[in-house]
Amino acid sequence: MTVTGFVVNKGRGPFNAAFFSALGPYIEWHVRRHKRRVFADLPETVVELGSGVGANLRYLRPGSTLVAIEPNAPMHRRLRAAAARRGVRLDLRERSAERTDLPDQSADSVISSLVLCTVADPAEVLAEVRRVLRPGGTFRFVEHVAARPGSPTRALQRMLRRPWAWTFEGCSCERDLAGLLRAAGFARVDIEPYRLHSPFITFNTQIAGIAYA
Ligand SMILES: C[S@@+](CC[C@H](N)C(=O)[O-])C[C@H]1O[C@@H](n2cnc3c(N)ncnc32)[C@H](O)[C@@H]1O
Repeated sequence: MTVTGFVVNKGRGPFNAAFFSALGPYIEWHVRRHKRRVFADLPETVVELGSGVGANLRYLRPGSTLVAIEPNAPMHRRLRAAAARRGVRLDLRERSAERTDLPDQSADSVISSLVLCTVADPAEVLAEVRRVLRPGGTFRFVEHVAARPGSPTRALQRMLRRPWAWTFEGCSCERDLAGLLRAAGFARVDIEPYRLHSPFITFNTQIAGIAYA
């Protein structure tokens, strides 16, 4: 099935839904400090790109609304169940982040974690985020990025790029997302780079931050 360019893989779609359910708590443990900072004080209604199975529901207050842009249908059952458990109202849209179909300047806050690595065109997604954010609205992100050129981690990211992308439905460890965020035309972009110490070495170079419309 195709949702504005996103192709759901019959094998890897369900595999990734199961993978992120099983390893979600472990990934969360590694990134929690950064998420607590950038996802603090979210408004009543939040738009999330690529919600997956609901890793970020915990950063919303019970009773608030999540507009989840998630084109990958195998994620939906777990996402619905997680939202119900957390008391978050779920407005699930089977759309891609490149074309959310949300009105112009309709959102106070858009969030994403580990999604800009996977979308087909991150620059197009950032333009879409700017379109839907109200002036002064925030895009808050936690993403993994390419390591420093010439570093051993960068070499490993290059070496493993094909099996990694195959397994994780197009995910790339080689994106300069900080550069794209700075070039996207936001009024201000605050970015903190950091390194995790997980066994998933190619995924350890990350950024977290807030871009202001
Ligand atoms: C690595 S998972 C991360 C899920 C979740 N945000 C988390 O932190 O656990 C990437 C997610 O992005 C979604 N995704 C992939 N391409 C997308 C696109 N073009 N638009 C929106 N979501 C997309 C996938 O379906 C998947 O749920």
